[in-house]
Amino acid sequence: MSRWHILMFALVLAGSLGAMEPSSPVVQVGPNPSAVAFFETKIRPVFQEYCWKCHGNGKKHGGLKMDTLDGLLAGGNEGVALVPGDSSTGLLMKALRYESGDSDLDMPPKGKLPDAVISDIARWIDLGAPWPTGLPPAPLVPPPPPPPFLGRLHPAIVHLPITALVLAILTEFLRWWRGPDWRKASDLLIAAGALGAIAGVISGSSLEGGQDPRLLERHELLGWLALVGALSAGVLAVASRYAPGARRPLALVLVLTGALVILAGHLGGEMVHGPL
Ligand code: HEC
Repeated sequence: MSRWHILMFALVLAGSLGAMEPSSPVVQVGPNPSAVAFFETKIRPVFQEYCWKCHGNGKKHGGLKMDTLDGLLAGGNEGVALVPGDSSTGLLMKALRYESGDSDLDMPPKGKLPDAVISDIARWIDLGAPWPTGLPPAPLVPPPPPPPFLGRLHPAIVHLPITALVLAILTEFLRWWRGPDWRKASDLLIAAGALGAIAGVISGSSLEGGQDPRLLERHELLGWLALVGALSAGVLAVASRYAPGARRPLALVLVLTGALVILAGHLGGEMVHGPL
């Protein structure tokens, strides 16, 4: 490849890269905010009070609708009502100035509007007839930050202590009924329930906001009580190795704790999914 070819190649490459750049970026400019404010304070109220009775709310006397810019641009039976940017053409200004040459077209029919109002309308047309459509932009409210990682896990984590503690009630009953073979399973479940309750309370405390405060308060209280219950069950389970008598209060503590976790879980579900 000669030097010439390389140069040509480089030029073509540069040219095609350049072509990828948008040559004339389209700059979109919304209606000028001060022009919109002018419309909202000086024009819309006048139209509303003096014109819409007959040219708005579904009525279009003379074929003219004045409650949208499209309606105004479409004009009436006599033709063009207004040309944005040019107040010297169109029937609207002539009608307002009582200058159409046809007294039926003097608007509003009841009497001429004050000159200041008429010149405001002329100025609005000369500004290009800005007419904001749609709702005013919603104020920017930042979306709430996602809950911290542990907090997001809370609804999943709490299933562990709930399941473990409810099963522990069952195995503790089987231990009493069927004998000490069930003790190991029971102790394991109690340990899992106590650890799960700790994890549940920790992950739950890193969640905040957004919930019904009354529900949240009760849910938290039940959560803490369930934790105390699960830890007491754990202590009693260990103690019962040395003092078998501790097994009897353990059953009671387990049943109470089971009820607490179920209630706490129920309120938690209500906060996440709404009342049943
Ligand atoms: C009481 C009812 C009424 C009110 C209020 C009224 N108009 Fe009219 N308007 C009419 C009627 C009726 C015609 C048709 C007249 C005709 O064609 O002889 C008309 C026609 C017009 C026309 C001509 C449409 C065309 O092409 O035929 C314009 C422009 C107009 N009105 C502007 C206005 C403006 C601006 C206002 C408010 C300042 C207004 N009107 C208020 C009843 C009203």
